[in-house]
Amino acid sequence: MSKVIKFFDTTLRDGEQSPGCSMNIREKVMLAKQLEKLGVDIIEAGFAAASPGDFESVQRIAAEIKNSTVAVLARAVKEDIDKAWEAVIDAAKPRIHTFIATSDIHMEHKLKMKPEEVIKRAEEMVRYACSLCPEVEFSAEDATRSDPDFLAEIFDRTIEAGAKIINIPDTVGYTTPNEFYDFIMEIRSKSKHLDKVEISVHCHNDLGLAVANTLAAAKAGATQFECTINGIGERAGNAALEELVMIMNVRRDIYGLKSNINTREIMKTSHLLSSITGVGVQPNKAIVGANAFAHESGIHQHGVLNHRATYEIMTPESVGVTTDNIVIGKHSGRHAFRDKLKSMGYELSEEELNKAFKEFKKLADKKKQIYDKDIDAIITEREVRKDDKYKLVRFVINSGNTITTTATVLLNIDGKEIERIASAAGPVDAAFSAIDKCLDIDVELEDYSIQSVTEGTDALGYSVVKLRYEGNSYTGRSTSINIVEASIGAYLNALNTIN
Ligand code: KIV
Ligand code: ZN
Repeated sequence: MSKVIKFFDTTLRDGEQSPGCSMNIREKVMLAKQLEKLGVDIIEAGFAAASPGDFESVQRIAAEIKNSTVAVLARAVKEDIDKAWEAVIDAAKPRIHTFIATSDIHMEHKLKMKPEEVIKRAEEMVRYACSLCPEVEFSAEDATRSDPDFLAEIFDRTIEAGAKIINIPDTVGYTTPNEFYDFIMEIRSKSKHLDKVEISVHCHNDLGLAVANTLAAAKAGATQFECTINGIGERAGNAALEELVMIMNVRRDIYGLKSNINTREIMKTSHLLSSITGVGVQPNKAIVGANAFAHESGIHQHGVLNHRATYEIMTPESVGVTTDNIVIGKHSGRHAFRDKLKSMGYELSEEELNKAFKEFKKLADKKKQIYDKDIDAIITEREVRKDDKYKLVRFVINSGNTITTTATVLLNIDGKEIERIASAAGPVDAAFSAIDKCLDIDVELEDYSIQSVTEGTDALGYSVVKLRYEGNSYTGRSTSINIVEASIGAYLNALNTIN
């Protein structure tokens, strides 16, 4: 009989901590809904006490998500726990996830606390969190560099205080599969209560062992895996959800594990995350890389044509890769577009379909080949822009190597049209200045980038803008075949997230 593993996805919390992967509230809600569709058991929505933006996004996700548990991170500090509870109080299934570091190096140099004080604090804060929330998880940060006797004691005390899930993180990605297995077995043998609760693991990928370590932990009794989509996360990232799930499916004979994940939603979730953050995966990335199911050599192609299993250990369809061969372009009609969307897992209302179709037609007029990534970009852009207060109506750029560049931008602001002109050294700079004039706002541009989504000179440009306003940072993203339009869209997207 297979053992069921619970999947705890921390893309929105630990994942968001990776460079370039910050998301705004709307994007986080969109991704959370997709994680729910994927069948994730627990969604860690964020660290509520970190900032008002983090608090609001946890609150919004808690209100939207019905099937998955919504977890919120809190240090073992009363104020953090109060904020965490306030943020998830309305969730159908709330969880407070509180943590404190347990390794000597962290206790001495970061917390500046004695081991006894750490145990006392953990116990008190877990008891406090349990007085508020029906489900509390406790994590011993840097567990794999902690003393097993100390861990057994802190786990027993926090379980007595009410923790139902105990997490053993490999915070710095230091352990190895055999060592982690022995370590968990040792703690279990030393602890009175650990076998009565859910054992969770949370592995970082600094040595490329996060997935292997997580699976070794399952053999030692872990029943909850903490992971992220595409393996994003602090430094080298976290264990990748898609790899864990597919190893469990393809090698059930070895691991004897199953999950509630709908594997056919894997590719869509991976693409959604990449199109929101603009951070793609390497082409040879297991499961979700562009080449994961591509057979290049003649011998391999020949084998696959005769019998797919010669070189395929899982089917592309099993992870939601579309092999429908529906190619769409400027001559495709609404029906073909609808079929394509359906094969990609998008279900749009009639009204949404009509709007998306118009945008598709506009793009198909300018672009020779429409890829799935272009369609993902159209749909994501539509969803993210839905409630925008500031909308671009049109812009005109006058630029050249011997003249000063000027930009004229016409915006629709809450139904009212405003047009302004600005000049600067380049077209993007001039356009941003014209927008500032339209909104009569003074923001500081912290970061700006543009890259292509697909291949070719007619590829979609993807722009990310980070700006600072009144001490807070706001990020915006946009795609367009015109790179100035993509840049303006990203700038407006960031401005639209300012409340
Ligand atoms: O890596 C880590 O230890 C964490 C904890 C907060 C669980 O992210
Ligand atoms: Zn972590």
